[in-house]
Amino acid sequence: MLDPTSSDDVFVVHGGAPLRGTVRLSGAKNSALKLMAAAILCDGELRLSEIPAIADVPVMVDVLRGLGLEVDLDLDAGTCVIDASEEPDWHAPADAVSRIRASLSVLGPLVGRTRRARLALPGGDKIGARAIDMHLRGLEAMGATVWQRDDEVEVHADELHGALLTLDFPSVGATENLLLAAVLADGETVIENAAREPEIQDLCRMLVAMGAVMDGIGSPTLSIEGVDRLAPTEWVTCPDRIEAGTYAMAAALTGGDVVIERVRSTDLTLPLIKLRAAGVVVEEGADSLRVKGGDLDAVDVVTLPYPGFPTDLQPQLMVLLSQAEGTSRCTENVFESRFSFVDELRRMGADIEIDGHHALIRGPSQLHGATLTGLDVRAGAAGTLAGLVATGTTIIRDVHHVDRGYAAWVPRLQELGADVQRVPASELGPVPGPGDA
Ligand code: EPU
Repeated sequence: MLDPTSSDDVFVVHGGAPLRGTVRLSGAKNSALKLMAAAILCDGELRLSEIPAIADVPVMVDVLRGLGLEVDLDLDAGTCVIDASEEPDWHAPADAVSRIRASLSVLGPLVGRTRRARLALPGGDKIGARAIDMHLRGLEAMGATVWQRDDEVEVHADELHGALLTLDFPSVGATENLLLAAVLADGETVIENAAREPEIQDLCRMLVAMGAVMDGIGSPTLSIEGVDRLAPTEWVTCPDRIEAGTYAMAAALTGGDVVIERVRSTDLTLPLIKLRAAGVVVEEGADSLRVKGGDLDAVDVVTLPYPGFPTDLQPQLMVLLSQAEGTSRCTENVFESRFSFVDELRRMGADIEIDGHHALIRGPSQLHGATLTGLDVRAGAAGTLAGLVATGTTIIRDVHHVDRGYAAWVPRLQELGADVQRVPASELGPVPGPGDA
């Protein structure tokens, strides 16, 4: 039995098979981890379901246990029960925090509940600078004092009061942290230029179910009236729209026919517009999508905060555009290093020119197998998609990144008919070198 979290494993992909069948989406990674962090605010038990079986979830459990919370995680059942009846410790455990970016989202709830926090600066994907200035400025405006050292941040807020917070950019993490602090602050907080990703809306709705008072959910202006306590509740994590987009592109690329279940297509408006513009047939059911591939046409795409095209689907889209007839333009506006994956795709034969944060993709190109490094969660998934349409063998290394965001990635692709295996790197024979067919 392979250890699904072993970083020494590789994916071995042989292209050519069209994907066919049905896949049911997991709960969204970027919602589940924040819902878990929000348990810190709950005066009692928070019962979460549709928690995805991804590697980041047990790490978040370690963070919460390190704060003294009782956590009962059942990844097979997709449930997580978190008890924060006792006031949490305010000093988050450095080893777990430094492993995932999402651990930063315990900062706001800790400041809200205990009025102080000490946190190592978190890890995560290497996709850009990932500053936290907006998180810290917002907390300061609410009355907190912040000390930032090389590898940790400490916040004290003897009095945490509401404030008008205008973000420079609709940052997902800053919006979440500030609203998580504001729900237990004194008075009204208004967050202007707030991010409004579906995962943030999920978090806001759960907080309201716990007794929070807020207005403007899903809009760029969020108003939060602080309350004294938040009560226990049960919550079902929203479906993962990025997983949906990834499987949709895999179906489209391979000329397949895949039904994706438990989808909210309203969360995917722009990706579906772009897929249809590229010639992909997308049929929408009540909570499902059927995606059929065929000849692909070039399209232009710009990544932006929601409801713009998600940066988390950009690497997968680049693979799709490499197979489309004509010249596509793709502009990345969210993370400065998210084109790193392009070098890998070029080595497989893609014709892509980069100028700053713009890419010009000329297609279609015949991709050929190569050995790739999964640089981050989305790049690893995109590399797998590239392998599905390449000639020869594609090897993806560092697949622990993919484990962070995609539950049962290889078994689900196999069920759809893909020729992909997960094997320990030590069991590999000679593998194709860079650019080898
Ligand atoms: N930024 C700042 N200052 C801040 C906060 C952000 O300059 O105080 C900049 C960042 O450096 C970045 C941009 O603003 O260039 C966007 O950052 P944002 O805060 O919106 O992103 P995040 O909270 O760090 C989350 C997801 C990412 C997803 C982005 C954008 C989690 C754990 N991560 O990151 O997910 O790409 O929002 O939607 O929720 C992924 O799942 O693959 C992933 C990377």
